[in-house]
Amino acid sequence: MSIKTISFALMALLPFLANPVASQGQNPINQDGCVTNYDPNFDYFTNKITVDNATLFSVHYERNYKVVVNNALKKEYVLTQCGTPVPPASQFGNETVFVNIPVKNAASTATTAVAFIEMLGMRSALKAVDTEGLISSPCLQYDLERGSILGIEDKDLAKRADQFKSVDVVFSTFGSEPGMENKTVITSEVSDPGPLHVAAP
Ligand SMILES: *[C@@H]1O[C@H](CO)[C@@H](O)[C@H](O)[C@H]1NC(C)=O
Ligand SMILES: *[C@@H]1O[C@H](CO)[C@@H](O)[C@H](O)[C@H]1NC(C)=O
Ligand SMILES: *[C@@H]1O[C@H](CO)[C@@H](O)[C@H](O)[C@H]1NC(C)=O
Repeated sequence: MSIKTISFALMALLPFLANPVASQGQNPINQDGCVTNYDPNFDYFTNKITVDNATLFSVHYERNYKVVVNNALKKEYVLTQCGTPVPPASQFGNETVFVNIPVKNAASTATTAVAFIEMLGMRSALKAVDTEGLISSPCLQYDLERGSILGIEDKDLAKRADQFKSVDVVFSTFGSEPGMENKTVITSEVSDPGPLHVAAP
């Protein structure tokens, strides 16, 4: 995997997992990353990312939420800082997924996302992963072994449904588990047509 591919997906996942900037005196953010004294005039995202070399996602910032768009699938993700009001759904398309950030309980059905989440230092946010046998990370395999991360159940469908219900967000590179559409985030880094697509491994 090339460095460019890695940085692309890191950037795509960063808005979901990054902790907000250090709290300012009158606008405290608690240890869970939640705003405790919301001020509608305060910009909660002073460290904004810009997307230079990828075409399949973009990020737009408002003061207390950001909108990540998967341009390949034309899907919008509205990421609202915990402790601040979620913007009205009527401002967005009817298939928009609303996510509270920072994400604390996630499942990933994509092995690619797992590596990037680990690189962001956010493995503790991962609760369940699919095709876990294909994940090479020794730390993640250790967590699977001791049960702090679950392998997504393939045979017992009731158990599988419970696993998906127990997380706030599901990261995927393809579709969504039936019924989980409103919390599934699909990233398309593996299809980006820009220089990333042809970057040498
Ligand atoms: C990446 O984006 C930057 C800024 O737009 C541009 O200068 C550079 O040429 C791009 N790199 C490639 C490989 O396209
Ligand atoms: C959103 O609207 C489109 C067009 O009206 C419709 O086909 C689709 O089923 C709607 N999706 C949801 C989740 O309601
Ligand atoms: C998703 O839809 C279910 C069922 O309608 C609802 O209970 C749940 O709160 C929704 N989750 C999100 C993140 O909007």
